[in-house]
Amino acid sequence: MSTDKVTNVPVHVSMIMDGNGRWAKERGKERVFGHFEGVESVRACVEAAVENGVKYLSLYAFSEENWNRPQAEVETLMGLMVKAMADEMDKLDSNGVRFMVIGNRARLGDSLNRTIDECMERTASNTTLTLVIFLSYSGKWDIFQAASKMAEEIALHPERKDEILSAGVDGFDRYLSTAGIPDPDLIVRTSGESRMSNYLLWQGAYSELLFVDTLWPDFRKEHFRAALETFAKRDRRYGKVK
Ligand code: IPE
Ligand code: IPE
Ligand code: MG
Repeated sequence: MSTDKVTNVPVHVSMIMDGNGRWAKERGKERVFGHFEGVESVRACVEAAVENGVKYLSLYAFSEENWNRPQAEVETLMGLMVKAMADEMDKLDSNGVRFMVIGNRARLGDSLNRTIDECMERTASNTTLTLVIFLSYSGKWDIFQAASKMAEEIALHPERKDEILSAGVDGFDRYLSTAGIPDPDLIVRTSGESRMSNYLLWQGAYSELLFVDTLWPDFRKEHFRAALETFAKRDRRYGKVK
């Protein structure tokens, strides 16, 4: 692995962590073994993000659609979230990582919500890296809840309607669940699938997309670094002529 510094590092890298089930199946094991091993990949990516100066790392951990999986798998995944947060928080905090969870929290259980709140409060003032876990998240849900918030604000303050609407699409950002977080520069999806699966539909409008064949439980620092190198070679034009 090259040790040269990667140039043109994205501010915000986002990962669609996919392929855990297939990784386990290849080894003749239950799907959940892939989820357990996937925690190791998360650890590696957090370390690689810090080492390479990425400021925001976000991870799609569980979609709104994933609630439709067998109950046993959902329960194991939720238990794994609580355990991983409890196990990792000391290290994350001492390494200056600010921890956040974004998604439809109303669907999460009380004990998971309590753990999330504790971890978010504890690490709120850390500045080295912001780690965002998208949990019970979907892009359509996010846009819908943002539109609902905006409609409610206008209903409460009809005199501000013109001001709110004239802020346009940039003004809409503040109603999204990701308010204050820069849009992802790079979205990487593992496991060879080439789709967004209802992820950051608004925020990903101009993200660079990278689809890699590696299954998530195999994804390690060298893969993260290779993704940064690929990103560095991309030419972002934003509709302009260069
Ligand atoms: C990603 O791996 C983890 C979650 C979506 C929770 P999968 O569980 O989707 O693994 P595959 O795609 O079935 O291999
Ligand atoms: C997308 O993976 C969601 C997460 C990685 C959390 P899925 O495995 O659920 O997506 P589909 O079903 O293949 O589109
Ligand atoms: Mg999958």
